[in-house]
Amino acid sequence: MSKKLNIALLAGDGTGPEVVREAVKVLEGSQKNYGVEFNFSENDLGGDRYINTKTLVTEKDIQQFKNADAVLLGAIGHPDVKPGILEQGILLKLRKEFDQYINLRPVILYPGVETPLANKGPEDINFIVVRENTEGLYAGAGGYIHYGTKNEVATQESINTYFAIHRCIKYAFEYAKNNNRKKVTLCAKTNVLTYAHDLWERIFYQVAEDYPDIETDYGHVDAICMWMVKNPEWFDVIVTDNMFGDIITDLGAMIQGGMGIAAGGNINPDGTSMFEPIGGSAPKYTNKNVINPLACIGAAAMMVKELGEEKYSKDIDDAIVETAISLESLSAGKMGMSTSEVGDMVLNSLLSQNE
Ligand code: IPM
Ligand code: MN
Repeated sequence: MSKKLNIALLAGDGTGPEVVREAVKVLEGSQKNYGVEFNFSENDLGGDRYINTKTLVTEKDIQQFKNADAVLLGAIGHPDVKPGILEQGILLKLRKEFDQYINLRPVILYPGVETPLANKGPEDINFIVVRENTEGLYAGAGGYIHYGTKNEVATQESINTYFAIHRCIKYAFEYAKNNNRKKVTLCAKTNVLTYAHDLWERIFYQVAEDYPDIETDYGHVDAICMWMVKNPEWFDVIVTDNMFGDIITDLGAMIQGGMGIAAGGNINPDGTSMFEPIGGSAPKYTNKNVINPLACIGAAAMMVKELGEEKYSKDIDDAIVETAISLESLSAGKMGMSTSEVGDMVLNSLLSQNE
């Protein structure tokens, strides 16, 4: 009997549906070889639905995602919706609702993929960012006084709880242990955020005591940005707060070859996780069959791993590597192949591994 996995597809806006389609093609076409049976359910959350019905995440959406083993997201963001509404109302809302407290973002340069860093290759750029995904500056704590006047005051507080920091740092060390990684680096700003990041630092070294075989390191976020460019080989696992994690993972996406390849997971190890390509909805490439689906297929590989299918996940990654080498570029419109041809190629490569 094959293992049944229910996946909710939140294809979303712009090029989201095109990349999700390719990920589904790869999974549907290969599932038999891995003893898995996917049951996909579609969800229409996104900018178009918001414009037409004014709904963001509804109770029905939540139920659908709750009934799924995981969610695969394409992209959220619509040119006709004011920035912030969909991001807050859908993406951040779901991360919170499902307590997806880890944002896991691998920064791995595949062989044959171009990086803007001179003299650096796949052996240098291979690390994982573990981003806290529920609080910090994203907690939504703050407000206005005297709104719209010249006396206006706006605050936005960074919330840092022992509970959330501890589970995040613990996850980073467990991840290192289970994935044969040797070092965990805390990325913070203890010289300025003398309360919040002092707490992070204390918890970091406290948790580290339980992992004597894993090396620890610390870097201020600004210095880490510098070293990610100059000495990316220093990093193995980086653990950091929500805001810094947001920023350094865009830098990470660039050094690993761009948004065409960067994938991530919003993870609740005991609940419903949501996987996504890091790039946006790319309105100008929508429906042109030119967007790169590799990031979304990579997100699907992360999802499959989280659902317990390690070998399957690894094989999809290998198929992505083989496909990436054959593309002229990873950028939309410059791949030398269409979106659907790239999806076909990944699937064929995956199937040929099982022959
Ligand atoms: C990301 C995005 C989101 C974030 C935005 C769209 C709210 O940039 O997933 O990194 O800041 O977390
Ligand atoms: Mn971001």
